[in-house]
Amino acid sequence: MSKILMFNWKMNPNSYNDTEKLLSIYKKTSRKNIVIFPPSVFLQQAKESCDQIGIQNISSYDSGAYTSQISAKMAASCGAKYCIIAHSECRETFRDSNTSSTIIKKIEEAYKNNLIPVLCIGYTSSNIDQSDDNVIIEQLKPVLDNFTNKQIYIAYEPIWAIGSGKPAGIDDIENAVKIIKQINNDRNKVSVLYGGSVKSDNIEELSKINGIEGFLIGGASLIEKELTSLLQN
Ligand code: 13P
Repeated sequence: MSKILMFNWKMNPNSYNDTEKLLSIYKKTSRKNIVIFPPSVFLQQAKESCDQIGIQNISSYDSGAYTSQISAKMAASCGAKYCIIAHSECRETFRDSNTSSTIIKKIEEAYKNNLIPVLCIGYTSSNIDQSDDNVIIEQLKPVLDNFTNKQIYIAYEPIWAIGSGKPAGIDDIENAVKIIKQINNDRNKVSVLYGGSVKSDNIEELSKINGIEGFLIGGASLIEKELTSLLQN
């Protein structure tokens, strides 16, 4: 079974027409097991080209006077099947993506609306030497302790690997998988993803890592040559 490839477009592309162009590359592939996370305004457009789409963030509320927020229900009604929760870029910018209680509420909203959560965790320092396992434990344990028998993807994305061109090393990723599995303790159906500078020239090597079931890919999901090659994996 091939690994699942999740493509996080972040705040790209810039227009409806550019989105059409990017989607035309995805349309050429017969590869199964891919998910695109476009900006919310392009969700429906992406849904026309790709079976599996997801949203990059959801509100912890289900409806009401929350200007700018998008609910899990809205995303599901546009065809989303997955939602990213607490990406490090959101953890850094929005307080609500960085507290366990809000993250738990978002995951509950996701399940209520049949979205599969993709929870991002990882070392928060941009300095590789300051990686501390306790950061992962503190991010994950209080959240996972609230769920049993649920399907969830945990994306391990250390900040120093995101957009840096330098993915985490094999030992580092294996260590993260071990911590995640220990915390879960077989309670939930957890699939571990890796994200951070995944490219066509390193995906094969990264795919050999025990316990990694797929990848959350940022920058390379926007570049035709990279994408075409990644989709062949
Ligand atoms: P890059 O692949 O650009 O490093 O981004 C990773 C990421 O943040 C995916 O969510």
